Amino acid sequence: MRPVRHFLEVDDLTAAELAKVLELSADPSPTLVLEGKGMALLFEKPSARTRHSMEMAVVQLGGHPVSIAGGEVGIDKRESAEDIARTLACFHAAIGARVFDHGLVERMAAVSPVSVVNMLSDQAHPLQALGDLLTVTQEFGPISGRRIAFVGDANNVSRSLAIGAGMAGAEFVLSGPPGYHFSSADIDRISAAGGTAEFVDDPVEAVADAHVVYTDVWVSMGEEDQAPEKMEAFAGYIVDEALMARADPDAIFLHCLPARPGLEATEGVLYGPQSRIWQQAENRMHAARGLLTFLLGMT
Ligand code: CP
Ligand code: NVA
Repeated sequence: MRPVRHFLEVDDLTAAELAKVLELSADPSPTLVLEGKGMALLFEKPSARTRHSMEMAVVQLGGHPVSIAGGEVGIDKRESAEDIARTLACFHAAIGARVFDHGLVERMAAVSPVSVVNMLSDQAHPLQALGDLLTVTQEFGPISGRRIAFVGDANNVSRSLAIGAGMAGAEFVLSGPPGYHFSSADIDRISAAGGTAEFVDDPVEAVADAHVVYTDVWVSMGEEDQAPEKMEAFAGYIVDEALMARADPDAIFLHCLPARPGLEATEGVLYGPQSRIWQQAENRMHAARGLLTFLLGMT
């Protein structure tokens, strides 16, 4: 029997497997790897795109998604994270989890006899990175050699994207205020994945020649207590029309969403001609389908 594969961060795949997942994501007639089976989707935090893209990907693969709020199962209160994973595996062919603490998905994966998929933690958002890379391929063809400038926080979204971009051969640069760079452990992991973890304070310098300008909220779910200091620190890092004009003329704008129009990006950029945010949102479903086809079918 082949070993169970989990997906907690993009580098749980090899570079060749990532390319395969992106290829499978574009397949309109996937193998029905979940026919007659279920997938449990556990959410400790709110979600629109992740829940709907995962539920529909499961349906498209012939399966039945069951979404559960964290409070329903009482993670580490009513029952340990390990016993929740063991229980869900009695009924489901795979488990997805969106958690505050990345350690929870690691603990679930450590005991789960079925694949565990990280649907966002404080550390990583690998499903988002898959959808983002799929969007880049749709726009530009090969990802290799493209430059992705992330103007914003060193957070779950930028970390996973930096790893995935590195694996796919793209240049990645992060621009934010001093003190908001990736940790040295992150930099080591991005480098090990084949990526660059360039950091520049100046967003104009960061977006020069960029094919993709990306941003996310400055205050992620679970760190609301840091809002006052982060709002002040990131004030000069809004992605506006003037900043987009400094990127490559064919550059696209991406945002994982949900957005705060007028804070991290202007309405003109979010909803303007260079924006691909809805294509990017839809790609979450295609990428989820590609990943599940790979993990469960191992084609
Ligand atoms: N981008 C993303 O993960 O969106 P949701 O939080 O709505 O799932
Ligand atoms: N960085 C954001 C992403 C939301 C999809 C957060 O964690 O809240």
